[in-house]
Amino acid sequence: MINVAILGLGTVGGGVAEVIEKNQNEIRKTLGDNIHVKYILDIRDIPGVVNDINIIVNDPDIKVVCETMGGKEPAYTYTHLALERGISVCTSNKELVDAHGVELSAIAREHNCSYLFEASVGGGIPLLRTIREAFGHERVSRIAGILNGTCNYILTNMKAGKDFDSALKEAQEKGFAERNPAADVEGHDTARKIAILASLVSGKKFSYEQVSCEGITSITQQDIADAESNGMAIKLLGVYEADGPSVVVAPYLVPKSSPLYAVNDVFNGIMISGNMVNDVMFYGRGAGKLPTASAVVSDVIECAKNIGHNIHTGFSDIQPVQSVNAPSKPEGRKLRVLGE
Ligand SMILES: NC(=O)c1ccc[n+]([C@@H]2O[C@H](COP(=O)([O-])OP(=O)(O)OC[C@H]3O[C@@H](n4cnc5c(N)ncnc54)[C@H](OP(=O)(O)O)[C@@H]3O)[C@@H](O)[C@H]2O)c1
Repeated sequence: MINVAILGLGTVGGGVAEVIEKNQNEIRKTLGDNIHVKYILDIRDIPGVVNDINIIVNDPDIKVVCETMGGKEPAYTYTHLALERGISVCTSNKELVDAHGVELSAIAREHNCSYLFEASVGGGIPLLRTIREAFGHERVSRIAGILNGTCNYILTNMKAGKDFDSALKEAQEKGFAERNPAADVEGHDTARKIAILASLVSGKKFSYEQVSCEGITSITQQDIADAESNGMAIKLLGVYEADGPSVVVAPYLVPKSSPLYAVNDVFNGIMISGNMVNDVMFYGRGAGKLPTASAVVSDVIECAKNIGHNIHTGFSDIQPVQSVNAPSKPEGRKLRVLGE
């Protein structure tokens, strides 16, 4: 039996416990062993839940920790403590991966354990493992992704006639928007995700601060109607171009001919262009309790199959990118067009 702990019993952490409980048979089939949640840590006083990280990291039974607290602290300190003791950490926390992922991955390598972050980009879409395992030999020229379900939901609903504020309110009521919607609608959430993707495919560390970032708050229903009459849809995209290199988050006009045009509601879609494989498209739920938790559990299973070994993600030995281009918007135009 593989004993694990969950740090943070919120949306994703609660989902991890549920996936492990409900899919125990499937887990046993793929892992050849059961996964048992021995501890749950949260800041709140809940019966059966611990508050002290030392109880977890000092227990030699614990092989994997799921960090689903979010934020930089104490997530960073707790992750550091676990990795130093050879306990693998699987996280959904894109903020921490962006800020300290390289350092934490190096600590994991030093201590023969792993730091995996599949759920931090694209929620339930098996994206990072696929990039790691199937794109390592490709020269990736471009990634263009709808990476924030809240923005896509808002833009889809604006196309159906709602104004920005009521579309945002509806997204919040349905639980899609993060606690602070600014991170979604101003593009920061997408910026963190595209920076992680750009780092993985380029072998150079792009940080969130290096992303040229514009959100969707200035998009009007008129912009959407104009786009539609030209056979296009407005989508908030994170775009990485190896040529430059450049990393941009902005609302783009997406032509009908692009598969991203048809990615609506809370769904995410990511196109990756490799020099040999050409265009590959990923589609699925980029957030939400169970899809995101499913990605965390997929990491737990990979760590459990590799106890005592470091899973190489490419993050432990990458150098910061020296310079990033900030391509200006085409003159006289409010929006960029995907592909131009
Ligand atoms: N929700 C999604 O669909 C989704 C998708 C992909 C990635 N993520 C990422 O996953 C992470 C978690 O998101 P979430 O939506 O699950 O957040 P959440 O619902 O707020 O859950 C976080 C949990 O951690 C607890 N916590 C906060 N500070 C703590 C501390 N110092 N010690 C122990 N527990 C603490 C919180 O308790 P309190 O409630 O008392 O503060 C809460 O129970 C974030 O990094 C987020 O960006 C979320």
